[in-house]
Amino acid sequence: MSPTETPRKAVLHASASSSAGDGNGPDTKPIARGSLLADRETPFVSTESGQGSVIDSIAEHRRFQAVVHPELAHDLPHVLRVEDFSLYYGAAQALHGVTMAVPQHKVVALIGPSGCGKSTLLRSVNRLNDLIDSVRTTGNMLLNDRPIFDTKTDVISLRKRIGMVFQKSNPFPKSIFENVVYGLRLMGEKRRGVLQEVCERSLRDAALWGEVKDRLHDSALALSGGQQQRLCIARAVATRPEILLMDEPCSALDPIATAKVEELIHSLRGSYTVLIVTHNMQQAARVSDHTAFMYLGRLVEYGPTEAIFRNPRCRDTQDYVTGRFG
Ligand SMILES: Nc1ncnc2c1ncn2[C@@H]1O[C@H](COP(=O)(O)OP(=O)(O)OP(=O)(O)O)[C@@H](O)[C@H]1O
Ligand SMILES: [Mg+2]
Repeated sequence: MSPTETPRKAVLHASASSSAGDGNGPDTKPIARGSLLADRETPFVSTESGQGSVIDSIAEHRRFQAVVHPELAHDLPHVLRVEDFSLYYGAAQALHGVTMAVPQHKVVALIGPSGCGKSTLLRSVNRLNDLIDSVRTTGNMLLNDRPIFDTKTDVISLRKRIGMVFQKSNPFPKSIFENVVYGLRLMGEKRRGVLQEVCERSLRDAALWGEVKDRLHDSALALSGGQQQRLCIARAVATRPEILLMDEPCSALDPIATAKVEELIHSLRGSYTVLIVTHNMQQAARVSDHTAFMYLGRLVEYGPTEAIFRNPRCRDTQDYVTGRFG
């Protein structure tokens, strides 16, 4: 009998004692026991599976229970927690009770077939879906324990805590320097020395400094596509965001530029927390620590990248990573 035949509640509950943060940057305390993946009393971390299929669950009107590998329980603290999160575009439900957590200073890849809700989930983190009138959400998301969807959350302040890199690079028609320090200027920083220091640090972090250090005041639009994307990453990291969201950041790049950006994302591990959507499974395997597989708006399986690609536990994941669908 399949272990998923009994409906189970999502168990990554918000900690009743979670801190509201002090507004002074990342507050990444480990989640209190009883509220995290390691709570073995509740079967969040599946041990059996291999039989589970989203299609079977839908056909049998069962809630699909994601398989989360036990190794993730030890990867703390969490910067982002998604808790039983659902999203509807009008009457159409795009996300179904997604529960997952992104550990600090790790790269997490979101993979899955087109239309499974990867971009919807990513955009929800900085509430870009607010711009769509018909959108309704249930459940929670917390960024360093501070609620993302609370009515009291100021969306502008929230977005300042998050960096976003899109599929197509979008440098502003300004100099390289002004692109990088744009966020700092918005925050009111005027000191030349600080701006110069942040510009250099961000370009170094984005592996672009060597290529542009002698032309910082040239237009960003004169850079190549791959350089422009790394510039956008430099701009995103300049404000030291608590999380960096990337939606298929290499899909418009040639293989050489892709390799550079992948190397860069890989090098961000340890310093930045990254949630990246990719269609390219080799890319997910190369750049990420953990991988989450989504299908039909559900989180299906979430675990260390190597385990997801070499030894997945769910039938749907196995089919997807071996190219049987999608
Ligand atoms: N603005 C919107 N209005 C209505 N439905 C939408 C909107 N954006 C996305 N959807 C629907 O939500 C579902 C998830 O879309 P989403 O863009 O999140 O998928 P995705 O996994 O990012 O796909 P892809 O890999 O093709 O980018 C799809 O069925 C899509 O048609
Ligand atoms: Mg998408």
